[in-house]
Amino acid sequence: MKLAIFASGNGSNFQAIAEAVAIGAIEAQLTLLFCDKKDAYVIKRARSMSIPVISFSPNDFESKAMYEAEILHLLEEEQIDLIVLAGYMRIIGPTLLEVFSKRMINIHPSLLPDFPGLHGIKDAFYANVPETGVTIHYVDDGVDTGPIIAQEKVVIDMLDTLDSLEKKIHNVEHKLFPTVLAKLIKNQQGEGRS
Ligand code: GRF
Repeated sequence: MKLAIFASGNGSNFQAIAEAVAIGAIEAQLTLLFCDKKDAYVIKRARSMSIPVISFSPNDFESKAMYEAEILHLLEEEQIDLIVLAGYMRIIGPTLLEVFSKRMINIHPSLLPDFPGLHGIKDAFYANVPETGVTIHYVDDGVDTGPIIAQEKVVIDMLDTLDSLEKKIHNVEHKLFPTVLAKLIKNQQGEGRS
């Protein structure tokens, strides 16, 4: 099982998954990081763990379809089985989706279907809801709408600030994402053998 992680920024989820792969908790090979931002911190994390990095931006191409066709070509060359979106801040277009449908997973920092979009943590915090959480789901052509694989709740305390809530959410993400991926991959490998 060969994984590609897509990320655009800090990469703390990338790191949590890469560490789980390194200790064998996720039975897969982390083949590459794809990053659409050439100066993102996640690239440093990958390099320090000797994970191959591919990085280019849609601005380098005439269209989004051509950008995604280039990514697809590289993924096919590496025979990638599963794409993991870990803070990849772009909508996936049909070029990638058609080939990787049911083989692309995203993490979102809210209890979907509540608070989809770019600001899941902030939106929940200012909505004054008593709890929010983390969702892991398959990717479809909507914004954070694909079939849900797992969710974990996070209570918003009276004393929470946006900052403390962000920390709580990220702590949950860093445990939940590797655990869910490990289970999913184990199950798929079991199916392949039977
Ligand atoms: C995470 O909160 C994730 O849920 C969202 O983007 C953030 C990425 O954080 N999709 P990081 O780059 O993994 O630190």
